[in-house]
Amino acid sequence: MTRRSFLRAAAGLGLAAAVGCRRRATQLETDRADMGHDAGEPKGVFRPGEVWLDTDGRPIQAHGGGVLFDRGTYYWFGENKDAQTHSGFLRRADVVGVNCYSSTDLYTWKNEGLVLPAAADDPSHDLHPSRVVERPKVIYNERTGSYVMWMHIDTSDYQYARTGVAVAKSPTGPYEYRGSFQPNGADSRDMTVFKDDDGAAYLFHASEWNKTMYIARLSDEYLTVTGEYTRNFVGESREAPAVFKHDGRYYCITSGCTGWAPNPAQCAVSESAMGPWEPQGNPCVGSAEQVATTFHSQSTFVLPVHGRDGAFILMLDRWNPSNLGDSRYVWLPIEFQGERLNVRWRDSWDLSVFD
Ligand code: DGJ
Repeated sequence: MTRRSFLRAAAGLGLAAAVGCRRRATQLETDRADMGHDAGEPKGVFRPGEVWLDTDGRPIQAHGGGVLFDRGTYYWFGENKDAQTHSGFLRRADVVGVNCYSSTDLYTWKNEGLVLPAAADDPSHDLHPSRVVERPKVIYNERTGSYVMWMHIDTSDYQYARTGVAVAKSPTGPYEYRGSFQPNGADSRDMTVFKDDDGAAYLFHASEWNKTMYIARLSDEYLTVTGEYTRNFVGESREAPAVFKHDGRYYCITSGCTGWAPNPAQCAVSESAMGPWEPQGNPCVGSAEQVATTFHSQSTFVLPVHGRDGAFILMLDRWNPSNLGDSRYVWLPIEFQGERLNVRWRDSWDLSVFD
């Protein structure tokens, strides 16, 4: 890669800003707090930004994640970044694989293990530790009875820009990796998948060097794309899409492109999953700093709370670029003001906010 193409790639990824990120590094050992096991607390509690422990007492490793609700249980899938963070211009942690945690109450999470492990012995494999595996999301396909995982696959220089697919017969895997491709021939970095009520599913992926968000219809089996796609937020450089549906409308929350450094979120609403999208502005409510940095975090998923109409949790990552494995989870409730979304900071909260 020439220096010019390297700089172009980095600019597309917003990495220059990441280099200057001044977020204070935090100590895992000195800042431990679990999500809901405190003595005297009869129910769980979410503590955004603190270390969240699983039921074995270990820090949860599920970054850039998403949650699937399946037969009474929530499954949280995310990147295991418990590996060395490589310093330098393009920071990344070696690929360990995709972790899964299960919960029935959203507060206590049982480690179901590495459901898609790195391919440590094959340097040419998409899942080799030297590569990039980010933002895994799983949806269930009723027709095939399969759990289908989509994820961002890349080389360490973020030039490969593909999406990968893996399949399992159980939510907790093991997932069989089926390979990667550029959907509809377009480069693909940050992404999510959204499954609609009618079973149609869509891949949202940052494309055109992160300048434009593509929304691609998935095939009936969710294993590939159909060729039908739209270009959205053209030239606006949005990434980290988190999509959900409420009262017949589709909402898409995104971040800007500044690498691991936080930036302002934006929300858009649509009558159709494939757009066109009407901008709603920044959903964050709070101090100027909180609004400008999305509470020092970046969107990854919107989690619908099962059985509670209108209850949605915005899942965000608070990245720690100097030690990506010590990045934190920021989950906050979404409040509706008519069609508009509001997200406010809370030091701690529980599901009663939705009562
Ligand atoms: C921002 C993305 O949202 C992350 O998933 C990751 O790709 C970083 N950029 C890399 O700089």
